[in-house]
Amino acid sequence: MGKTVRGQRIGILTAGGDCPGINAAIRGVGKTAIVKYGMTLVGISDGFTGMIHKEFRELSEHDLSGILTLGGTILGTSREKPFKSSGKSKNEISKPVLIREHYEQMGLDCLVCIGGNGTLKTAHLLSLEGLNVIGIPKTIDNDVWGTDLTFGFDSAVNIATEAIDRLHSTANSHKRIMIIEVMGHNAGWIALYSGIAGGGDVILIPEIEYDEKKIAEYLLHRVNDNKPYSIVVVAEGIKNPGKDCSSAQYLSKRINELTGLESRETVLGYIQRGGTPSPMDRVLATRYGAAAAHLIAQRDFGKMVALKNNDIIPVPLSEVAGKLKLVGPKDPLVIKAMDMGTSFGI
Ligand code: F6P
Repeated sequence: MGKTVRGQRIGILTAGGDCPGINAAIRGVGKTAIVKYGMTLVGISDGFTGMIHKEFRELSEHDLSGILTLGGTILGTSREKPFKSSGKSKNEISKPVLIREHYEQMGLDCLVCIGGNGTLKTAHLLSLEGLNVIGIPKTIDNDVWGTDLTFGFDSAVNIATEAIDRLHSTANSHKRIMIIEVMGHNAGWIALYSGIAGGGDVILIPEIEYDEKKIAEYLLHRVNDNKPYSIVVVAEGIKNPGKDCSSAQYLSKRINELTGLESRETVLGYIQRGGTPSPMDRVLATRYGAAAAHLIAQRDFGKMVALKNNDIIPVPLSEVAGKLKLVGPKDPLVIKAMDMGTSFGI
């Protein structure tokens, strides 16, 4: 590690959808910054909204106690996109200009942005405006390019898998087709992992366009093969021709129409984003937070901390911004599931 700078004043914000593990990341940055580098930690409220309205408070090591296992974010979050929409705030100063002015008025040496794709893109654009920024990849969707894993993902997969496990018994009792919809607007990582972990018979993800008739044939084949119930795991972002209904509701109706089999649906929703982080997410978030503090001490800005083959490495935000990490149709996990007879609706 090169020369490090002590005593810097660093701002930290959490933006986008919340998830388990955010507070573990805040604690990882904060405790490393304070204990190892004598830095001052400034918590900014509600994502970039707090930078626009200059809403912040200093965080002591004491403030970081007891938050490792806490769900949500002690700072609050928002989906504010300063470089989008009107871009103007009160008295017509643009939001990015306001953020830069407040960054300077707050005496910040760096801004740590904990978030997903939108947040990391905003962080990159702010770095082009001259701010020193560090990104930490967070989202249950695991769709941030440049890192093997985002924290929040493991917790969501645990929650979804437990739900799927519970559906097997009721599906078996009633000999029904049970459809469960999990989160994942653009990428099907949660559906893929929880579908495999939970023994899903059909897994539908946005990246692989499904054919209703193929699904119907597959489910009827299972019945004829003396498998009277099936579990269908779908990502919320799959093709949904249904009007004003969820993907799960649409599919449940179509499966019943095409096969005559009884079907029911469950939309797991925000339960996947709530509660305490899994131990793996606590560790990953802590690793990311500590690595972010080290980068700040080395004044190595404009980077996102990333996991690559179990190492934490810095990746330029310029390479991450605007990209998505989607499930490839030939993803090894997809192929393995297909080889075992799991249907992807094709
Ligand atoms: O980005 C995480 C996520 O939970 C997605 O899986 C989901 O589609 C979206 O956020 C929901 O957004 P909101 O919390 O704004 O309703």
